[in-house]
Amino acid sequence: MNLLGILMETFASLSINTIKTALIWLLRAAWIAGILPVLIASLPSPRLNSFHTLLLGFAKRGKIMSSSTNRFTVPQSFFLHFYLLGVVWTTILLMGIWYFAYEVAPLGSESLSYVAAVSHLTGGSHVFSLHKSRFTSAEDRFNVWKSVFLLLLMEIHVLRRLYESFHVFNYSSSARMHIFGYLTGIYFYAAAPLSLCTFCALEAFNFAADQVAEFKAEGQEMLSIMDFDLWGYVKPITRLGWCQWAGAAIFAWGWFHQFCCHAILGSLRERGDQTAVYVIPHGDWFEIVSSPHYLAEMIIYAGLLVASGGTDFTIWLLLGFVVANLSFAAAETHRWYLQKFEDYPHNRWAILPFVY
Ligand SMILES: NC(=O)c1ccc[n+]([C@@H]2O[C@H](COP(=O)([O-])OP(=O)(O)OC[C@H]3O[C@@H](n4cnc5c(N)ncnc54)[C@H](OP(=O)(O)O)[C@@H]3O)[C@@H](O)[C@H]2O)c1
Repeated sequence: MNLLGILMETFASLSINTIKTALIWLLRAAWIAGILPVLIASLPSPRLNSFHTLLLGFAKRGKIMSSSTNRFTVPQSFFLHFYLLGVVWTTILLMGIWYFAYEVAPLGSESLSYVAAVSHLTGGSHVFSLHKSRFTSAEDRFNVWKSVFLLLLMEIHVLRRLYESFHVFNYSSSARMHIFGYLTGIYFYAAAPLSLCTFCALEAFNFAADQVAEFKAEGQEMLSIMDFDLWGYVKPITRLGWCQWAGAAIFAWGWFHQFCCHAILGSLRERGDQTAVYVIPHGDWFEIVSSPHYLAEMIIYAGLLVASGGTDFTIWLLLGFVVANLSFAAAETHRWYLQKFEDYPHNRWAILPFVY
């Protein structure tokens, strides 16, 4: 048997809970690996200066990166790839988990139990019959719908970012980012949506795979159970708790201000003008901080954390990564503005009003 065969067999022999635990800890380890170097480099110790400079070299992009350093860099306009990946991956997860939630974790309708739904769809031979205890409690079903809600918010975010990459930002032709920053961004948009739904992503994936197999086998007969029930898909979302709606309100607040600040940045150059000319931005949160779009991004992820109920450590780490990464870049951006413009408003903070 070849190596791939052995790997497949080993994988198949693991229980879904083992794989799930491994996935969760892998994600957590990666977020911690992203946060720790930034925290260490930010400690006020002269001994860490060279480490700080090294990390900054990886994190710099656009105006704060010297245009003479083109080695190991890619155009900053490659940010587009992040949002293409973000939209495709978030849509796949959202569709898969929404369908799974509808079929397997009905909210408030006690007549449809998890086991009944599964055996109805699969004739009782489904892999999920091995895990009958999953998603039977009201709390589990609620958590599945909460994952749908978080992915919906994420989808709204990445869709706007994709739109802005095409129609709002005018990346200058000389703006670059380090290849390390680029790979980190790719990782981020693969791992962030997944971190929002680790509770049921694997089960939903398994369920979808079985559905496809089932569809291939039974084809037309299955079409009758696929009649689209729009209200059935939406209603459970309207019945989520105050925490989810409070989180959504915080998310919307950050989302709106990021949209405004991006529009301001995009308007600083003529459409299609790719010359790297920089001016002092004015308006909205730019009057208070130098990088309000980064601040808004932190608020967006804080909103996601609140909407999650704050009980998932992986989502705390996701927010930690966003805060560490963007605070680091904001500090450098603030320094750059102060050096570049003598008349830069000295009452502006770097990123957090009245704090930093
Ligand atoms: N979730 C995360 O971890 C994460 C990480 C990174 C970024 N992001 C988000 O992605 C968004 C974009 O980030 P970014 O780092 O690319 O932003 P950025 O460096 O501020 O650049 C955004 C665009 O605005 C232009 N620009 C910036 N300052 C300007 C000025 N003073 N005058 C004229 N044009 C100016 C840039 O020009 P150039 O093309 O010349 O640079 C670029 O086209 C942000 O909202 C950020 O929150 C999120």
